[in-house]
Order: sequence, then C-alpha cells, then structure tokens
Amino acid sequence: MTLIPDDTSATPNPTSSAADTGSNSASCRVAVVTGGSSGIGEAAARALAQDGWQVIIAARREDRLAKIAEEIGATAITLDVTDDKSVAHFAQRIPAVDLLVNNAGGAKGLEPVEETTLQDWQWMYDTNVLGTVRVTQALLPQLREARGLIINIGSVAALRPYEGGSGYNAAKFGLRALTRVLRIENAEREVRVCEIDPGRVATDFSLVRFSGNQDRADAVYADKINLLAEDIAEAIRWVASLPPRVNIDSLNIMPADQI
Ligand SMILES: NC(=O)c1ccc[n+]([C@@H]2O[C@H](COP(=O)([O-])OP(=O)(O)OC[C@H]3O[C@@H](n4cnc5c(N)ncnc54)[C@H](OP(=O)(O)O)[C@@H]3O)[C@@H](O)[C@H]2O)c1
Repeated sequence: MTLIPDDTSATPNPTSSAADTGSNSASCRVAVVTGGSSGIGEAAARALAQDGWQVIIAARREDRLAKIAEEIGATAITLDVTDDKSVAHFAQRIPAVDLLVNNAGGAKGLEPVEETTLQDWQWMYDTNVLGTVRVTQALLPQLREARGLIINIGSVAALRPYEGGSGYNAAKFGLRALTRVLRIENAEREVRVCEIDPGRVATDFSLVRFSGNQDRADAVYADKINLLAEDIAEAIRWVASLPPRVNIDSLNIMPADQI
C-alpha cells in the first residue's frame, strides 16, 4: 500500500516498503485505528503492528500520534471524526484498507437526565455514532475491495443502561444499531463487521468524561478490578487474526468484578 502523501500531517512510515510490493502477505495488510492516540486504540495499534499489520493511527493529538507511530513503525494521520472535511481528507490518503477499527469515542458527564446538557449529548452522538458513520462511509469502498473487516468499539453501555449514562447509553445503543445494519448490508459483499463491548477499562476515558477532574476519574477505578487497554487490544488482534470465513459478531468483555 502506498499512502498518498500530505506533508502537513503524516509521520513517514518506515515499514511502507514492504507494502509497496502489492503482494498478499501478512505484512501488507493495512489496519486503520481511529482514536489511536491513547487507551484502547493505542494498545490495539501496538498489538496489530506486532502481528505484522501496516498500521495507520488517527486522532486529533498530533504529538501523541507521532510518538506512538515512531515507536511501532506505524503511520500517523491527524483526524477529527466529527469534521466532514477532516474525514474526507483522511480517506483520500488511504487507497487500501483491510481492517478498520472504529475506536474514537468517549463520554461526557454523568448527570441525571434532568441535568444533562444537550452539548454533552451532541458531543457523544457526534463522536461515537456520526464519527463512525463518517469514517466507515469514507473507507467502505476500500474495505469492500479488500473483503475487509470492521471492528466497532461499543461498550457495555450499549447493552445496559445505568444511572447518569443517558447520553452515552444512547450513543452506544445507536452505535450498536449502526453496527447491526452494517453487518446486514455488507454480509453478501464479504465485509465482516464486529462489535466489541468492553466494561470498565482503566484509560483516560473517565478523565475525558469528567473534563480533566483527575480525582473524580481516579475514583472510578479505585478499589476495583479494572480491565487494561491491552486486554481489549488482545480481543481486537484475535478477531483480526481469524480467517475470512469467520465473523465474530460481538464480544462483551468485562472485568471480573463488574456484572
Ligand atoms: N475505558 C472504558 O471503560 C471504556 C469502556 C467501554 C468502551 N470504551 C470505548 O473505547 C473507546 C476508546 O476509549 P478509551 O477508553 O481508550 O479512552 P481514551 O484513552 O480517552 O481514548 C479515546 C480516543 O478517542 C480519540 N478521539 C476522541 N474524540 C475524537 C475525535 N473527534 N476525532 C478523532 N479521535 C477522537 C482520542 O484521541 P484525541 O483526543 O487525540 O483525538 C483517543 O485516542 C471509546 O469509543 C470508548 O467509548 C471505553
């Protein structure tokens, strides 16, 4: 695979020569991971790179992306999944994709419905649901060409409502619906679609949810058994390693103490 260059946002990929051969070997498979600048996305990018995927990581924080990309021999491309132009520009630079991990997302706030703000709801819907729609639409031709695989990172919040979760529950329930429809619409084209729904994972997720309040974020994970980002990355790497006849429809992965 040859990326279409854009000097303003890419970190050169030291492994790109392997992909330029156009052969079908494992080292030529291209994986795009959105939200690759931290947490689950970063861990997934590291695991996939170890497995020989040519990884493209995408997110807004350029400095973090560039550092991770350099460490694992990936390509970093800045991307805001809530911005149509950013997504269009991103997709133009990626002529071939075998695996898309739609991971960019998160939550804002934990207030009851009467106090939650529409601004938070809009952020969550735009990032988790419309962001996935934008990126998937933009890369679907390449994924169909490759008979590829889409892995959407949902959440236990897509399965079980909880107090204060309304906007996030609604967004991840919405993402789940989108995943189901994508699966139906693409089955005959042999594009596989999988949803992974983690429970509590110790990442920056809660720091973002509570707008940088470290004490509040730490309290979410204190005295609990928490999943690590690497646990979810293992699942992603496993799903991605299976032969094309196998579609893992959905996986709900929970810490031992979370029901
Ligand atoms: N941690 C949990 O307990 C948990 C549980 C279930 C599901 N999840 C889901 O797992 C996914 C990853 O979250 P995480 O736990 O790894 O948290 P995280 O460390 O905060 O990662 C979130 C990632 O999403 C990216 N992102 C956010 N808004 C974006 C945008 N507009 N455009 C592009 N990238 C954007 C962030 O990068 P930039 O800020 O650099 O853009 C970051 O890389 C999310 O979809 C989350 O909902 C998390």
